[in-house]
Amino acid sequence: MLELVMAPLCGGGKIRGSAAKMVLCSLLFLIPMASSAVIPHRKLEVQKQLMRLNKPALKSIKSPDGDIIDCVHINHQPAFDHPLLKNHTVQTTPSFRPKGRSFDESKVSSNSKPITQLWHLNGRCPEGTIPIRRTKEEDVLRASSVESYGRKKHLSIPQPKSAEPDLNTLGGHQHAIVYVEGDKYYGAKATINVWKPQIQQPNEFSLSQIWILGGSFGEDLNSIEAGWQVSPDLYGDNSTRLFTYWTSDAYQATGCYNLLCSGFVQINNEIAMGASVYPISGYGSSQYDINILVWKDPKEGNWWMQFGNKYVLGYWPAFLFSYLVDSASMIEWGGEVVNSEAVGQHTSTQMGSGHFPGEGFGKASYFQNIQIVDGSNNLRAPKGIATFTEQSNCYDVQNGQNGNWGNYFYYGGPGRNPKCP
Ligand SMILES: *[C@@H]1O[C@H](CO)[C@@H](O)[C@H](O)[C@H]1NC(C)=O
Ligand SMILES: *[C@@H]1O[C@H](CO)[C@@H](O)[C@H](O)[C@H]1NC(C)=O
Repeated sequence: MLELVMAPLCGGGKIRGSAAKMVLCSLLFLIPMASSAVIPHRKLEVQKQLMRLNKPALKSIKSPDGDIIDCVHINHQPAFDHPLLKNHTVQTTPSFRPKGRSFDESKVSSNSKPITQLWHLNGRCPEGTIPIRRTKEEDVLRASSVESYGRKKHLSIPQPKSAEPDLNTLGGHQHAIVYVEGDKYYGAKATINVWKPQIQQPNEFSLSQIWILGGSFGEDLNSIEAGWQVSPDLYGDNSTRLFTYWTSDAYQATGCYNLLCSGFVQINNEIAMGASVYPISGYGSSQYDINILVWKDPKEGNWWMQFGNKYVLGYWPAFLFSYLVDSASMIEWGGEVVNSEAVGQHTSTQMGSGHFPGEGFGKASYFQNIQIVDGSNNLRAPKGIATFTEQSNCYDVQNGQNGNWGNYFYYGGPGRNPKCP
């Protein structure tokens, strides 16, 4: 056990001589002689986790929201801790990017404004590095266990046609989504406007995202997810943050948020996963939205992600997955909240803007121009769009289609209200 603890911390290659780490290494070597109570086990585990997650930075930037963004050499990023990525050469550009056939991209955001990340106000990361949100001790301590930090719990993917409807609300997860299934999908895209939903309990969250799913909803479900979220437990505040998630076994042993485990290979030096997006939409005032595209490179097989119209963030190597090595079998777009019913009532945690779809533009949250990447690697309107929500009196979804917005939907709601007690 002790060797296992020491090896990653004090073994040759991993340690890069900062004084703090040297002290920690010495402490660790002393443990066999000291009583096991000197450093509580959990504290050690936390330190070990922090050293694994926080790579040596060439430069660090303090964001106004309290985050520290570390600019880490691209070859020292967490992905390279993965045994199968030991000899990996970073692919610096995708060999292919899907194109829309009929849709005029310039029209899509005509009535909304561009968005970026808050930490940009205080600096940028140099070329050859990637920005990583530094994990703090309190971040790990908020998790139910050190191992669970950065990971999702089971069963948070909406299963519209589940034979057991209770599965969907197990753990209190509620959704308002649109989805397509029954074909082979090689990517998905959407323009999502960004809000700051109120979260009632710190262990609840509210997010808006795309799910790219492969396989059945069994133990080996593959999922790639991207969007924005407010999650006090994960980040320690109520800021709206860009996030990604992946798993290749239905949230059991593999996968994590952002760069909190090895897997995603980031190439971009401007956008940090898990960092706040800024500005956000106001009710009845300016609307701000983000563009997310995830697609499979037909040549290398990796799944790439683009944020906005210009930031190619990086890729999930194909070998991380089983079903998604080939294609996705279902795409979902929409919102999810956790309803913990902490006080015996439905939570007042908001989804999206916290307002129902019927309020429309400027008030309700939306996804515009939802598209899929088809078998010819073209972006196109999805066929057979269906909607799903567990309790439409709490959170609802309404889809539509028009020339400017393509396939779109409004979604969200306030949670607890007279019709959702
Ligand atoms: C990496 O390269 C070394 C040396 O060529 C080789 O022994 C090792 O098996 C490779 N590892 C992987 C995961 O490909
Ligand atoms: C987050 O918002 C809730 C109310 O929605 C508030 O009680 C809490 O203090 C906020 N947390 C932080 C860290 O600001």
